[in-house]
Amino acid sequence: MDARWCLGPSPKSLDDATVEVIKQLFLDQTGERYAGASVKSLPIPEWGGNLVLLDANNLIRGLLWANKFNEKRVRIVAFAIDSDYKGNGYGSQAWDILVEAARSDGHSEIQLEVRGDNQFAIDFYRKRGLKIVSTLEGYYKAGIGYVMRGTI
Ligand SMILES: CC(C)(COP(=O)(O)OP(=O)(O)OC[C@H]1O[C@@H](n2cnc3c(N)ncnc32)[C@H](O)[C@@H]1OP(=O)(O)O)[C@@H](O)C(=O)NCCC(=O)NCCS
Repeated sequence: MDARWCLGPSPKSLDDATVEVIKQLFLDQTGERYAGASVKSLPIPEWGGNLVLLDANNLIRGLLWANKFNEKRVRIVAFAIDSDYKGNGYGSQAWDILVEAARSDGHSEIQLEVRGDNQFAIDFYRKRGLKIVSTLEGYYKAGIGYVMRGTI
């Protein structure tokens, strides 16, 4: 399956059909239900941490949204890849693009929240140098979560 990562638009400029695709991707891959308005209000600038995975028909098959939390730290707000495209190296590619962009903007840390039962993602981040720094109660409907952070 052929797809490529491209720079994404700012969420507020997304059309309604694209918002629906993104909501469905989040729901399928993370179990989190977002309202259309909350997708559009996510503060994600246009930069190397705002990536969409487009297939041969230019349909969105994945998304990485990160923001510049502060001078030092970048925060991943959403990261999801369509089931048909998972486990093919696309997540690793997006990670590398993000790290490169974050470094060239002078950032030295990445932080994110992950569900406690999402072992695949936890391992993915661990292999990339992130560690669990705290436990989140009541953040996810399904159970506990973790904050993971690492140096890049
Ligand atoms: C977590 C997620 C974004 C990772 O993306 P992905 O595309 O599945 O990840 P990758 O395929 O790049 O990496 C998974 C492993 O498969 C390996 N891999 C498998 N096939 C590969 C291929 N053809 N080429 C390169 N790597 C491959 C990768 O090397 C990687 O192993 P590593 O972590 O030891 O390096 C994705 O699985 C996902 O959307 N999960 C559900 C939602 C989710 O959990 N999001 C995170 C919430 S915080």
